[in-house]
Amino acid sequence: MAIERVGVVGFGLMGSGIAQVCAQAGYDTVIREVGQPLLDKGFGRVDSSLARVVKAGKMTEDDAKSARRRMRGTTDLKDLQECDLIIEAVIEELVEKKAVFGTLDALCPAATIFASNTSSLTIVEIAAITKRPDRFAGLHFFNPAPVMPLVEIVQALTTSDETISTLRAFVTSLGKTGVVCKDTPGFIVNRLMVPYLLGAIRALEQGVATIEEIDTAVKLGLRHPMGPFELIDYTGLDINLHVANVFFDEFKDPSVAPPPLLKRMVLAGRLGAKVGRGFYEYDEKGQKKSPQTK
Ligand code: CAA
Repeated sequence: MAIERVGVVGFGLMGSGIAQVCAQAGYDTVIREVGQPLLDKGFGRVDSSLARVVKAGKMTEDDAKSARRRMRGTTDLKDLQECDLIIEAVIEELVEKKAVFGTLDALCPAATIFASNTSSLTIVEIAAITKRPDRFAGLHFFNPAPVMPLVEIVQALTTSDETISTLRAFVTSLGKTGVVCKDTPGFIVNRLMVPYLLGAIRALEQGVATIEEIDTAVKLGLRHPMGPFELIDYTGLDINLHVANVFFDEFKDPSVAPPPLLKRMVLAGRLGAKVGRGFYEYDEKGQKKSPQTK
């Protein structure tokens, strides 16, 4: 099946990156958010990301304008009816995702493929709400989506091989590399990354070193682009806590139990760069200032 028009539900950090990547690759892209202010915020994010790509000389200004023209915002899920593929990137809550796909299933033709960008929920559980579990898969992008070259293509027990080959071709057309994996907690990347990030928080709790020393050690000793605390702040402490809880529920393995410090920081509202405070503090432009001292 050829994909020509893509729908994206949710215009937050991930949804805006995913929609931008689709539009850059030439797809007409319809994005649905719950209200105009959130649509405006999403388009603001896309505009500054496109400006970065143009400034870096990776795209002409004309191509950026064309990509932007291929994107259309709406607050009505009905406007996604004509899409061949719909990628959902709403809040990481099962009830919210089920509500979106329940509505879309009633609106869209049987051939439309549905995909969730969830990083921690079980694909088959969301697919089961629809009458098309064979045309339902995970498409897991990484933040920042316009830069990160990987997409995990998640094959649930019910996903057909035909759907997977269509999604493989789609991911390649975005200029990304797709890896197919099973519908298990964390898929490939988060399964390996989450125990590592939680281990860094536990090392901090145990006084092994400071936030900056741990980050510096990982960046210079492992050549990671970000240290674990920079990365947790970047992806969001609330997201990391949520993923840890899902992992612990599934595996009952102490290495993925959420460390007490993470839970308390989330309760204190220190959710990371997006709110200006996580393990580090950030200025209004999102630039990192100093690490937290207590
Ligand atoms: N849009 C477009 N371009 C962007 C961008 C964005 N949002 N963010 C960064 N870039 C571009 C910059 O313009 C720059 O381009 P040039 O090299 O051509 O100039 C390049 O990316 C590097 O950016 P910077 O120079 O600003 O900063 P950097 O070198 O520190 O890189 C980074 C920033 C790309 C985010 C890098 O730090 C990085 O790769 N970090 C790790 C990110 C990561 O691990 N992501 C996965 C998170 S896990 C996840 O997403 C899954 C989950 O389920 C939670």
